[in-house]
Amino acid sequence: MKIVQISDTHLTAAGGPTEAGFRMLAAHLNEQVRPDVVVHSGDVQVLHPDDAADRARSRELLDLIDAPLLVVPGNHDVGMPGVDAWAGLVVTDARVAAHEAVFGPDHWRHDTDEAVLIGVDSELLGSGLQREADQWRWLEQTLVELPAGKPVLLFLHKPLWSVSDEPVDHQVDVGPVARDRLLALLEGVELRAVGCGHLHRYRRTQRANALEVWAPATAFLAAGEDSLPDAHEELGYVEYTVADGAVTAEFALVPGMPQLTTAEVPQIAEAIEAMTAEAAAV
Ligand SMILES: [Fe+2]
Ligand SMILES: [Fe+2]
Repeated sequence: MKIVQISDTHLTAAGGPTEAGFRMLAAHLNEQVRPDVVVHSGDVQVLHPDDAADRARSRELLDLIDAPLLVVPGNHDVGMPGVDAWAGLVVTDARVAAHEAVFGPDHWRHDTDEAVLIGVDSELLGSGLQREADQWRWLEQTLVELPAGKPVLLFLHKPLWSVSDEPVDHQVDVGPVARDRLLALLEGVELRAVGCGHLHRYRRTQRANALEVWAPATAFLAAGEDSLPDAHEELGYVEYTVADGAVTAEFALVPGMPQLTTAEVPQIAEAIEAMTAEAAAV
């Protein structure tokens, strides 16, 4: 079976370049790739989780994809945990509920004949919300029930494994506490792949029996200040093949899709400018 992972579409009610690229992606998937299922690993909408118009427009655009679509939320969809949340956008119960009303449950299990797909809301991890405790309980129950011998693919927005050995002042991955707890729970399952987004870069790394896959964005390339080792800096998507219990993953380009930078997406360019000005004023 063929699973496509798309990520970081950063769509907006204003249309613009991220929508143009997404339309190319949807047409390419429908006409050429024809996946069995598509997973969106978050940052569906452009910037602010409370923008209902962006959310509604994103839903309309995601509906262009013919294949069944599963979504896990990103920090721009529901906010992120902790005091150092980007632009103060903290995950809240109301933000997750608003996301779920449009895109479905923030965590899920999807069974096919050949594999089990598990989606997790990484933005709850470390939030202390009741929803976080509920998700942990759901994971504990779900993972022990999985059919033996069937490969498991896990999807979440933030990377599970540490992105950098250096301490960083913003949340690039789920952090050690959530990572250790999740990996302990996953020990008993046939984990073959963990797909995330958030970094706007592609990388594939073998982690014991599982492939760790950073999905590229479709919207815009990462702002270039911190280049990460072995990362592939190009917009596109990931194609997973599941056959005879084995899982492979490959980066793929959308023919003709422009390789946009942050400067070419008006909302993102303005936000970066405003934050730079704010930092300079402190
Ligand atoms: Fe993103
Ligand atoms: Fe993100």
